[in-house]
Amino acid sequence: MTLRSRLTMAAAVAVAVAVVAVAFFAFRATSDVLVDEVDDSLVNRANDVAEATQAFQQRAERRPGFGPPGEFVVPLPPFGGAGGFSQVVTADGETVPALDQVGELPVSEQAVAVAAGESGAFFATTDVDGEQVRVYTAPLADGLALQVARPLGEVDSVLADLRWVLLFVAIGGVVLAAGIGFLVARTALRPVDRLTDVAEEIAVTRDLSRRIDVDSDDELGRLAASFNSMLVALESSVGVQRRLVADASHELRTPLTSLRTNIAVLTREEELDDADAAQLRSDVDAQISELSTLVGDVIDLARGGEPVQRNEVLRLDEVVETAVDQAAFHWQDVEFATDLEPTTVTGDADLIGRAVTNLLDNAGKWSPDGGVVTVGVHDGEVTVSDHGPGVAEADREHVFERFWRAPAARNKPGSGLGLAIVAQVAESHGGDVSVADAEGGGALFRLRLGGDPPRVDS
Ligand SMILES: Nc1ncnc2c1ncn2[C@@H]1O[C@H](COP(=O)(O)OP(=O)(O)OP(=O)(O)O)[C@@H](O)[C@H]1O
Ligand SMILES: [Mg+2]
Repeated sequence: MTLRSRLTMAAAVAVAVAVVAVAFFAFRATSDVLVDEVDDSLVNRANDVAEATQAFQQRAERRPGFGPPGEFVVPLPPFGGAGGFSQVVTADGETVPALDQVGELPVSEQAVAVAAGESGAFFATTDVDGEQVRVYTAPLADGLALQVARPLGEVDSVLADLRWVLLFVAIGGVVLAAGIGFLVARTALRPVDRLTDVAEEIAVTRDLSRRIDVDSDDELGRLAASFNSMLVALESSVGVQRRLVADASHELRTPLTSLRTNIAVLTREEELDDADAAQLRSDVDAQISELSTLVGDVIDLARGGEPVQRNEVLRLDEVVETAVDQAAFHWQDVEFATDLEPTTVTGDADLIGRAVTNLLDNAGKWSPDGGVVTVGVHDGEVTVSDHGPGVAEADREHVFERFWRAPAARNKPGSGLGLAIVAQVAESHGGDVSVADAEGGGALFRLRLGGDPPRVDS
């Protein structure tokens, strides 16, 4: 079942429930009003009769011999054109019908009780000769009760008409609601259709440059906008990966060529003297390890902006200290001075360690012999400064690019991936890395890891 038909049905059901409830109460209210009207007319009628009876009785008392003979004198005209009844009930349960009256009302025990003065006036609905009749029984005189009645046929026929009207209104309302619900659902869901079309098209064509027109700022507009931003993110990350693969294959070609040349020479080892052969073998060894470092770096970079996999709370100062120990071992000619404030950050210790190592490695590489590299951890930020040549203003925007190396760096080992990895680690931790001039000349790198504000343990 589609969302559209579900919405249509929901609208129809909601209206149906409302219409049925309204119809039910309207019917009840109308029927109550109509019966009340009948009751009012019965009470009026009974009052009229009671008044006439009194007047008649008084006249009879003043002029004995007037009026019909009998134990009591009650003028009971028939109930008029509406075919009503009236009759008098005695305390013995006897009935005296009105003049010219056809038929007789059944006398209930309660009516006898009213005649006997034991009960008050009351209304009842009874069946007389297969017809619904409303009867009002009220005390008339001592030992007598008056019953006036009106058939409910009129009321019933009005209610029957009303029933049909309400039925048609209900059916019409439900059909109308279903129609409107369908139209509304169709209009409301049109943007979803567009979204689906574009998504399906992208799935087929793999064209991530497609975008959806966002023409509203409601929920669906926001959905389209976030779909677009997802496409932007996807497109850029696919672009980054493609460029990385292209750059990496290009960069790998040079060391591979020289490796191949060296190996080709080595295959004719007998033509070389021992010293040359040994030199060549150690060159090949160095080139192979350089190549595997390069491949390792490319693999690191290929992980791209992946969110940090291991998100643990770690001591930044301890991670930096370990990296400094390793760097000090590797760069024996350089002195490493540290000032590490105890700091905790959230992130991946391996990645942060690698980033710091890359910074230390650069500082060691560019420091003059006996130079001092100062490493600090303050306010959740790692700083590494050296007294080498520093990074020229113009190069600062390039140093974090992949495979970028300053012309002066061409004679030093490296592939230009170190700082790109640092930048990526910083980014994946929600931080950043920047370069500036160190005090007294040299480069100063700042690595900030975002996330938690630094907490200093006492
Ligand atoms: N401390 C520094 N002082 C001067 N220049 C630097 C320093 N660190 C980096 N650079 C410049 O930035 C370039 C890029 O550095 P990066 O660490 O990315 O590459 P690399 O050190 O050349 O090679 P890799 O780190 O991949 O072995 C370097 O080639 C160098 O020109
Ligand atoms: Mg480097």
